[in-house]
Amino acid sequence: MAGRIHIFDTTLRDGEQSPGVSLNIQEKLQIASQLAKLNVDVIEAGFPIASKGDFEAVKAIAQKIEGPVIAGLARAEKKDIDRAWEALQYAKKPRIHTFIATSEIHMQHKLRMSREEVLKRAVEMVKYARSLCEDIEFSAEDAFRSDPAFLYQVFEGVIAAGARVINIPDTVGYATPIEFGRLIKNIKENVSNIDQAIVSVHCHNDLGMAVANTLAALENGAQQLECTINGLGERAGNAALEEIVMALHTRKDWFSGATGVITEQIHRTSTLVSKLTGVSVQPNKAIVGDNAFAHESGIHQHGVLNERTTYEIMTPESVGLKENQMVLGKHSGRHAFEERLKELGFSLNKEEIEACFVKFKDLADKKKTVSDQDLEALLSEKITEI
Ligand code: KIV
Ligand code: ZN
Repeated sequence: MAGRIHIFDTTLRDGEQSPGVSLNIQEKLQIASQLAKLNVDVIEAGFPIASKGDFEAVKAIAQKIEGPVIAGLARAEKKDIDRAWEALQYAKKPRIHTFIATSEIHMQHKLRMSREEVLKRAVEMVKYARSLCEDIEFSAEDAFRSDPAFLYQVFEGVIAAGARVINIPDTVGYATPIEFGRLIKNIKENVSNIDQAIVSVHCHNDLGMAVANTLAALENGAQQLECTINGLGERAGNAALEEIVMALHTRKDWFSGATGVITEQIHRTSTLVSKLTGVSVQPNKAIVGDNAFAHESGIHQHGVLNERTTYEIMTPESVGLKENQMVLGKHSGRHAFEERLKELGFSLNKEEIEACFVKFKDLADKKKTVSDQDLEALLSEKITEI
């Protein structure tokens, strides 16, 4: 049994770290306002110390966007935390999100710090952040590749220091679902004060398993899920918000918890993010790709026209689309062809339909899809022949 699942959207921070993506303040505000309509619980608005532009964007979002918690990222360093707070202080519900790496690889080669130093720094900086802001999230960067015993120690320390949320990232997308689920379960069993914090996960998609890992974590007790619109993010991206949310929405029989996301806003949010970032969505992308609710083959079209649940596990309306799409191509059958003719206002007798259907199949063999304009041209040609 599970209750409310918190959705933490990091499109404006980790999503913006996608190669080639850079959003200005107005664009960030537009996306943040749409994320508020989508009703996510937390918007990570940026990394204030990263640039003046990012600082101003986080500040503007903190001042103007109401509803969700507004978070800003900071390394576990005083100057980062001060800068984050400078931008976030205007928010009705501000959160400082501070992080430090805990894996041997990162501590040795990037931070050049010992375990003891990392633990001390994490605890000190959470205490410091807590002196400025009530809501503190702590992330153990590269948690999945960290020594679990050390992770437990770090999480215990930062919770005692006042962290309200502890986040477990699979920073390099290395985990598989069973392993990641097990890690979450072990953290819940081995961190003595875990009940005083919300357990969060943050999965990257390097092996294409970010959503699967996130759902495995949820099954093992995670309460906050970090994700981005369209799965945007560093390298291969982050867990896609729309996939997580619609998996939960569609499979209530599998998991009883619910998010607060207004699913009918999903499509609009995806289109806006794609337009403003310039990163297009692949056609076969789950939930938001152009083909996600399109049916081409005759067998599928016939099925859906008779009873949509034959080939649709969720409705297009549930993600904010008006209707599904019957794509006419060489695999389409008479049934869908006749339906489309009726929709276009043609009423033909059996013989005319038969003659046009033959012409349509000829054309479909030459073209990938047959558009309404193609049909109209074909029909006017055929009708004048008849
Ligand atoms: O992937 C990661 O580890 C991060 C942290 C900063 C949360 O983005
Ligand atoms: Zn990340």
